Amino acid sequence: MDEDLIKTVNRLQDAFATLGTTVNPIDLPQITVVGSQSSGKSSVLENIVGRDFLPRGTGIVTRRPLVLQLTNKPDSEEYGEFLHLPGKKFTDFNEIRNEIAKETDKVTGSNAGISSSPINLRIYSPKVLTLTLVDLPGLTKVPVGDQPKDIERQIKEMVLGFISKPNAIILSVTAANTDLANSDGLKLAREVDPEGTRTIGVLTKIDLMDQGTDVIDILAGRVIPLRYGYVPVINRGQKDIQSNKNISAALEYEKNFFEGHPSYRAKAQFCGTPFLARKLNMILRHHIKSQLPDIKSKIHSTLAKYQSELSALGGDDMLGSPSNIVLNLITEFSNEFRTNLDGNSQDLSTSE
Ligand code: GDP
Ligand code: NA
Ligand code: MG
Repeated sequence: MDEDLIKTVNRLQDAFATLGTTVNPIDLPQITVVGSQSSGKSSVLENIVGRDFLPRGTGIVTRRPLVLQLTNKPDSEEYGEFLHLPGKKFTDFNEIRNEIAKETDKVTGSNAGISSSPINLRIYSPKVLTLTLVDLPGLTKVPVGDQPKDIERQIKEMVLGFISKPNAIILSVTAANTDLANSDGLKLAREVDPEGTRTIGVLTKIDLMDQGTDVIDILAGRVIPLRYGYVPVINRGQKDIQSNKNISAALEYEKNFFEGHPSYRAKAQFCGTPFLARKLNMILRHHIKSQLPDIKSKIHSTLAKYQSELSALGGDDMLGSPSNIVLNLITEFSNEFRTNLDGNSQDLSTSE
């Protein structure tokens, strides 16, 4: 039922996009990653999308923000399109990665420079939810290469610009083999979201922890509690990148790791990337529901506006016109939306 809600919202978004209206009533959250350099931010995003397309690796690889708009497109092949290359379809995801790297170097130089000017990439696929993910340069302290002396402040300000938006869901990434108390991502998240209502903790590199250590205390909320908690994940390591290990093999490895590990075995269903994706989905639904009164009133005012425009133009002649078709769509969706809503407002606390 809740999945229907998200589908309805996706279609509604599309209908409004067709209208070209500036008042898009549905401001879906941007999922934004924060964390130290090389904590695994790009790897986590890539696993959530389920495709290989982001530059990853040791050192500062992500040097410009990447605003990634996933767009649900039924019955379509999967492809990407960059804002800076309009009309050019990328069906090969390796080419997408090369283009990101090329476009990064073009603006920042190749010697570790950074820029706050984002790269905008849209991915169309029948398999994704329409939503925006933002990959950001990692927080770092010591300038290298051509980086400015105040690199720490510059990156911090860039990150704050994204995560201080109220509709940002913050994926705060910390490598499990580092100290959570020193987590830059968590510190920054707390600055803009002190109540932890839109922050989710992600612990990467569980596979690299010393034998006999685990993150059970963190997961149990005994270290730095977060309302939405933490999800431990395992991404591909540097060796896996070099050997081109694919995502499905990586997910299989992750699953077996948690199911076979004495510390995590009993709670394996709350570990790993698929659980993280479901959790994000839940947060997304919470967000939509909290926005519903606002969305409804915007739908109504948009409807009223188009209805009056149509009648001013003399009704019948307009039946086949694009705006009339969209008007019908919106009316239909708005009814569907209301039905969804009314039958479905009490399940928030029980949904996982
Ligand atoms: P970012 O700088 O935060 O975007 O981090 P990347 O995603 O580029 O990853 C940095 C490095 O850590 C890469 O070499 C990854 O292969 C490696 N890495 C990331 N997550 C994990 C993990 O869970 N396990 C292991 N073994 N390596 C990881
Ligand atoms: Na990196
Ligand atoms: Mg990165």
